[in-house]
Amino acid sequence: MRECFKAEKISDRVYWVGAVDWNVRNFHGYLTGRGSTYNAFLVMDEKITLIDTVKAPFAGELLARVASVIDPSKIDYIISNHAEPDHSGSLPVVIDAVKPEKVFVSPLGEKALKAYYGDSLDLTVVKTGDSVNLGKSNVAFVETKMLHWPDSMVTYLDSEKLLFSQDAFGMHLAGSRLWADEYPEYVLDYEARKYFANILNVQAAKVLDLLNALPGLNLDIQVIAPDHGPLWRRNLNWILDLYRDAAEQKPRPRALVAYATMWHSTEKLANAIADGLRSTGVEVEVADLAVNDRSAVMTAVAQSGAIAFGAPTMNNQMFPAMADVLTYVKGLRPKNKLGLAFGSYGWSGEGGKQIAAELTAMGVEQPVELLQVKYMPTEADLEKARANGVALGEALLARVTQK
Ligand code: FEO
Repeated sequence: MRECFKAEKISDRVYWVGAVDWNVRNFHGYLTGRGSTYNAFLVMDEKITLIDTVKAPFAGELLARVASVIDPSKIDYIISNHAEPDHSGSLPVVIDAVKPEKVFVSPLGEKALKAYYGDSLDLTVVKTGDSVNLGKSNVAFVETKMLHWPDSMVTYLDSEKLLFSQDAFGMHLAGSRLWADEYPEYVLDYEARKYFANILNVQAAKVLDLLNALPGLNLDIQVIAPDHGPLWRRNLNWILDLYRDAAEQKPRPRALVAYATMWHSTEKLANAIADGLRSTGVEVEVADLAVNDRSAVMTAVAQSGAIAFGAPTMNNQMFPAMADVLTYVKGLRPKNKLGLAFGSYGWSGEGGKQIAAELTAMGVEQPVELLQVKYMPTEADLEKARANGVALGEALLARVTQK
């Protein structure tokens, strides 16, 4: 089937040939309100090289963009920086269309790609420190294990001073502009922090290792081209600083109150806690899990020094929406949080205890005890909830001041 898509030139030798997924709204459980892109790049040198591919349904778009520059069968090399299917899903189709001389992958990329697409894939393994001459330019490889998957690596193109960073420094943001400096900063800030919180927070220590190692790699990087969202040119330090800030997870004077509710009892507690928090000067966000998905909650968790989680008990368990969010947030390993648990119940009351236990398992210090109320909070219960919010806010401000 014919498709009409054109490549966009991003430097003397390099074209963007990726795909824009305007309407994706759920990226494996991460709600992508602004869509996403799967970026791929064509390097025009003596060895014509395709850097990464795209999600399987977008193979036609990728090949059409390549064809607007050159017959795809002229591609000599493919470099696959990351095996997750949003970047490799179309690799078998592209290999079939292109019949490249070589497909370069990391050692763990080889294992992952063969597991996905079969042992018959003919792959050439490269490691950190390896480089390949393309003619007038060279590409060098740096493995970035666990950023985002064990196989991940980045590729540096010396002639353009360009780092192809795969997931790192990306964000889920569809748009008709290629460069980050063409987007409003508040959009970049929210989407980059959301992406970091939901994709990379679990490996925050490794992100810091990479940021600290970058100067020692002696790569003159003028452009960073991630596999999702816009590319970075004039404002590299903006995204590098944001990543360092997000990875350090220093406590901020900000709090999230997240709750599930059945008959508004837990909601009333949540609002009282939030009011206590705001009275201390802490900035507060309140999130009802009926309308806030887990990825929005995790984004707020990452930016909050304090997290208050509450839910009713249902069938001897915490309300399922809270279990979902806590499982997700725990897996992403937020650090340096204060918190509290609260809830309501009719007869058994396990829910709040389970929330408190999950917060403890996450390493969240809880300066006030669990508050649970039977059926509906009284005026005194609400005063207690507000006082707990004040105590949490004061403990957070003390911690922020210490650090
Ligand atoms: Fe965008 Fe880890 O894939």
